[in-house]
Amino acid sequence: MQHKQREILVTSALPYANGPIHIGHMVEYIQTDIWVRFQKMRGHLCFYVCADDAHGTPIMLRAQEENITPETLIKKMKEEHQIDFDDFAINFDNYHSTHSPENQSLANIIFEKLDNGGHITKRTIKQLYDSEKKMFLPDRFIRGECPKCLATDQYGDNCEICGATYSPTDLKNPISAISGEKPIEKESEHYFFKLGDFEEILHEWTRAGHLQTAVTNKLDEWFKAGLQEWDISRDAPYFGFEIPDAPNKYFYVWLDAPIGYLASFQNFCEQESLDFDYWCKPNSSTEMYHFIGKDIIYFHALFWPAMLDGSEFRTPSAIFAHGFLTVDGQKMSKSRGTFITARTYLDHLNPEYLRYYFAAKLGAGIDDIDLNLDDFLVRVNSDLIGKVINIASRCAGFINKNFDGKLADAIHGPAIQEEIKNANQKIAEAYEAREYSKAMREIMILADKANQYIDHHKPWVVAKQKNNSNELQGICTTGINLFRLLMLYLKPVLPIVAEKTERFLNIKPLQWQDAQTTLLNHKINKFETLMTRVEKEKIDAMVENSKGNFIKT
Ligand code: 2FM
Ligand code: ZN
Repeated sequence: MQHKQREILVTSALPYANGPIHIGHMVEYIQTDIWVRFQKMRGHLCFYVCADDAHGTPIMLRAQEENITPETLIKKMKEEHQIDFDDFAINFDNYHSTHSPENQSLANIIFEKLDNGGHITKRTIKQLYDSEKKMFLPDRFIRGECPKCLATDQYGDNCEICGATYSPTDLKNPISAISGEKPIEKESEHYFFKLGDFEEILHEWTRAGHLQTAVTNKLDEWFKAGLQEWDISRDAPYFGFEIPDAPNKYFYVWLDAPIGYLASFQNFCEQESLDFDYWCKPNSSTEMYHFIGKDIIYFHALFWPAMLDGSEFRTPSAIFAHGFLTVDGQKMSKSRGTFITARTYLDHLNPEYLRYYFAAKLGAGIDDIDLNLDDFLVRVNSDLIGKVINIASRCAGFINKNFDGKLADAIHGPAIQEEIKNANQKIAEAYEAREYSKAMREIMILADKANQYIDHHKPWVVAKQKNNSNELQGICTTGINLFRLLMLYLKPVLPIVAEKTERFLNIKPLQWQDAQTTLLNHKINKFETLMTRVEKEKIDAMVENSKGNFIKT
């Protein structure tokens, strides 16, 4: 069954270094981590890299507020993020920062290539300027009245009341959100990336199977509107990389953010003596996938492939976009206590509950997914505890007590064993296609069948019968083997329980191809609790604690 070993580079979007990871972010890291773990179990060479997105005005201002340097802030945030990811069992091969020498050097190389290719242009534009703070104001730091509906206290680029989008200079009675002063209009020279130069290439690329259908359709609207030049520079003061030969001009955070994917990988290549160029040069035989949220499609499906193409790097094999997370059917909200940080979640609940719940909800599309807290409890308890773990706890005791931990040398239920074993291909296809909800459904149907087998053969009754110990050992050996297969299939989602299972079964780390084998005539260890039930009180406490979360973004 082993095919050619694939070489796969995978990324998740880089979280900003000015705020904590929350469960909305976790949808993507869990989705990606499951896919990467699956690829690794299949025997492919797969690397998962990520980094903190460390540049930009909000980070600069946040550091000022805290009276620390941006470098100190981003170091602290990166450490916090990494602990959160670790505790959710997100298994990055490398976690770096966009504020790194690799990223600066790659950003310069890419910019210079684009410039030499004639894809960068300069022109003077007018922007709102805070004379007190002596800085140009990003759109989100300007408040004023909507030019269309006159609603007050709206952002510089769009109105939350009537939905209009506009330029900050159109806003009526604008105020700087930083100083509270009225901004002035000031001119400055900016660098622009001529996205339109890549229209033809992008038109083709976006239709060549690299994107989900819904994403391609969305892009059509943008193609129709025309590809605009992209302002890639910002004036000092700014926390970022200075543009070569352009004093006091910095790369806009969104220019060097996706380059951060390559920078993190390059840093990994240096540590592991891998050939970065082999992976990243045009026509590489390796694969590269970016998992992202649907809000940042424009950057990843237009700017990013154009930047790569224009600077002689490989383009992505695919972009996998996902939807947003709602909690109990609504946007996460601080007042309802549903703006739950990764840390608050972890303070109360087991990370694998959420990994499983998200897996049970995730498909390959860009629909939003809902975390319904009542459903979460029922689903995790009935599927994981009631169906899967239950199989092991129903059989392990007899094997440990009556047979000194030894499994029989023949299977008692070959038909059910074959059925569950033969499902491996279908489940693998679902994982590969990111149809995790389908995979989870399949696995739970099989778990129901495994339980029916045990219900039918009633080992607890057989145990009381005289001279029937062979049968008892055979039934429980079958049960343990069915459990082993189910845990193998769930391993990308539940890596911690899978590891405990491997210890309990006294086996090497499960790989996908182990679905072909049966565990016979083998000594297992004592059964320990693999996972406990979700408790309602803990969910309530988590929500209560989240009401106090005040998160600056
Ligand atoms: O939207 C965000 O949170 C960005 N920090 C994502 C960057 S992804 C990539 F381009 F680096
Ligand atoms: Zn309005």
